[in-house]
Amino acid sequence: MKALILSGGKGTRLRPLTYTGAKQLVPVANKPILWYGIESIVAAGITDIGIIISPETGEEVKAKTGNGDLFGAKITYILQDKPAGLAHAVKVAQPFLGDSPFVMYLGDNLVQSDLRLFLENFHANSLDALTLLCPVANPSAFGVARVDEQGRLLQLIEKPKDPPSNLALVGIYIFSHTIHKAIASIQPSARGELEITDAIQALIEQQRAVEARQIRGWWLDTGKKDDLLEANRVILDTCLEAAIHGEVDGTSQVSGRVQIGKGSRIINSTIRGPVIIGENCHIENCFIGPYSSIANDVTVTNTDLDHSVLLQGAKVLNIHHRIVDSLIGQRAQLKEAPQRPKALRFMIGDDSQIEIS
Ligand code: TTP
Repeated sequence: MKALILSGGKGTRLRPLTYTGAKQLVPVANKPILWYGIESIVAAGITDIGIIISPETGEEVKAKTGNGDLFGAKITYILQDKPAGLAHAVKVAQPFLGDSPFVMYLGDNLVQSDLRLFLENFHANSLDALTLLCPVANPSAFGVARVDEQGRLLQLIEKPKDPPSNLALVGIYIFSHTIHKAIASIQPSARGELEITDAIQALIEQQRAVEARQIRGWWLDTGKKDDLLEANRVILDTCLEAAIHGEVDGTSQVSGRVQIGKGSRIINSTIRGPVIIGENCHIENCFIGPYSSIANDVTVTNTDLDHSVLLQGAKVLNIHHRIVDSLIGQRAQLKEAPQRPKALRFMIGDDSQIEIS
């Protein structure tokens, strides 16, 4: 059994962060999204992993993630020269996959589910495809499945106006080698991509054994800012372990589950968990409230914030308004005059969003 993780694509919905970096490397609770997928695959006993990368962000993904030693796996990087669709990525990976069955995992998805059960199911029933489904409140925004009582997949419909169920396709699929022939039989869709849903539909029409199972835990697609903040909240809520490796001075208060990395200094501040603070950060005269993730090398002074994610090297200085529900990019700087400002001065990149409320 092999695994194929898709870490190419355009990431348009997370601009401007994705102009300069891979969306799959954006951290959730200070760990790249992609790594959660790798860990879940390795936990299911699969260690031969291919990762699809793009020409724009592939080198960054490779440099950060490495050859697999970090995870006890062997990683092979596979370049997809253009983001021509999920099924196109599988086509490009065919030499790596050979005739092996494989798990296909979208690198920007976070799923709380043990894959082992689904793999056992796939093998025990000699399936050609097993798709994972999750009930959602707004099925029209997703690929939706029609399934019979036995769990057989009858039909997949992309963003249906009139959804036949509330079961959305999660970004994890298990395939036998028959998927390659199905992909060879499909044409690009109206948006010009080779769609994996069309390839699965082709398998269904060829009467292949295609089934679907519901996951029990949560599923988070981290494509947009609010999804990412929600993913951060859920992971901090469920996975964060308290550990203080940095320095907390006598005038500071730390309560709840809080992780503080090596070399970080907390001075005259209140940190109320769940909060994760990376290494070599400087936090002074601040309130850092629940569901905040602060990456390495961040400075925050004279500022209150909660439910926010600050990426590596960001500086937030003397902001006398509470910062909430925010995502602040790598090395971004936010500062305010010591008194109430008479004017605001900005240098804001393309597609940035600033709300002064
Ligand atoms: P999507 O989120 O469907 O596409 P995208 O990354 O281009 O994002 P956006 O909609 O914001 O523009 O992709 C799901 C995952 O699959 C994501 O990790 C990127 C990856 N992917 C590829 O590796 N190759 C591709 O051709 C496509 C379309 C996606």
